[in-house]
Amino acid sequence: MKKLNIGLFGFGVVGEGIYQVLSEKSQLNTNIKKIVIKHPDKQRNAPTELFSTEAEDILNDPEIDIVVELIDDADAAFEIVKTALNKGKSVVSANKKMIAEHHLELIELQRKNQVSFLYEAAVCGSVPILRNLEEYYDNDLLNYIQGIVNGSTNYILTKMKSENESYEKALKSAKENGFAESNPALDVEGTDAANKLSIIILHAFGRLVSPNDILKKGITALKNEDFIYAAEKGLIIKLIAGCALDESGNLTPIVVPTFIEKSKTLGLVNNEYNGVLIGSALADEQFLYGKGAGRYPTSSAVLSDISALRYDYKYELRKGIKNGFHGEYFVEKKFYVGFKPGQKLNKEIFQNIEESYQSKEYEYVTGTIRLSDLKNSGWLENESVSVISF
Ligand code: HSE
Repeated sequence: MKKLNIGLFGFGVVGEGIYQVLSEKSQLNTNIKKIVIKHPDKQRNAPTELFSTEAEDILNDPEIDIVVELIDDADAAFEIVKTALNKGKSVVSANKKMIAEHHLELIELQRKNQVSFLYEAAVCGSVPILRNLEEYYDNDLLNYIQGIVNGSTNYILTKMKSENESYEKALKSAKENGFAESNPALDVEGTDAANKLSIIILHAFGRLVSPNDILKKGITALKNEDFIYAAEKGLIIKLIAGCALDESGNLTPIVVPTFIEKSKTLGLVNNEYNGVLIGSALADEQFLYGKGAGRYPTSSAVLSDISALRYDYKYELRKGIKNGFHGEYFVEKKFYVGFKPGQKLNKEIFQNIEESYQSKEYEYVTGTIRLSDLKNSGWLENESVSVISF
């Protein structure tokens, strides 16, 4: 078995995890030659001589054929990955923000330099969603993807529901468990889920969708009253990312808190687990499930990518790379909108109102809204307005 010489960027939750796995499993025949870190003064669980603060120690080393990029700064990561690809090194990355923001450029660099750029760990941790979309669902018959793609928010919502924990305590514990991003706003505001959805859409449908064009609301605006409403209806709230493709080729990418029945497939996905439903014309619906965040689950996807480099595996993106989505939405959906009385909301964007409730403390309305109207309503950015899909 060919020995793989690896240069590792980052020694955080996942970086240390992959270092441990690779050093304990000699049968993988890999050698971590250098680890580049930002803070040399931190105590590390690996021999001191492995560490450097100079990116060039990896990028200019001709013996290193694989760069594993696991840092949290998306801009710095982009520079590292670009340089590595241009120097003919294959790259494994878990940096969803960087990939979603520079997807096309990175794929072109991979093609131009005839190397591999793999990033299974960037989407849903241990769940092999990208490789499945690439290899198994490599035809045009998919019509939707829907799932829980952020472990931290799912963990927080689970703890709030099943253990009555406060949002703050649950978030703290998501951080302590190594589930959250270094900037947890990316998790709770839905940005991480939108980045992952954007990556999934390219592999599922061959369409480039900027995360900035995705209709998005995270979990930060959810109020106690919203959870009470859900409980009264026998529903739970999950942060769901999804995208449908209709017969005219229109996409509907959306990340939004959603009421679901506990017994439905996604209702059974709890804690830091992720789950993705794949809807296709012939197979109907299929489901991928597993741990979506945390040291070892994410390391497992990184490891799988490293192993795939032994046979020069590449994402072929056989469905193409077409543009064609710039934030235009053509469908309407049923939503719950909750807010404090006295807030002047333009309720005229409801196509119809099904329920309307008002007390001294809280008000909510349910009914259908065109997604294009919702996107322009200002409610998605407004922290005092809850928007929950049905
Ligand atoms: N912060 C991410 C999450 C880590 O919670 O899903 C895995 O991508």
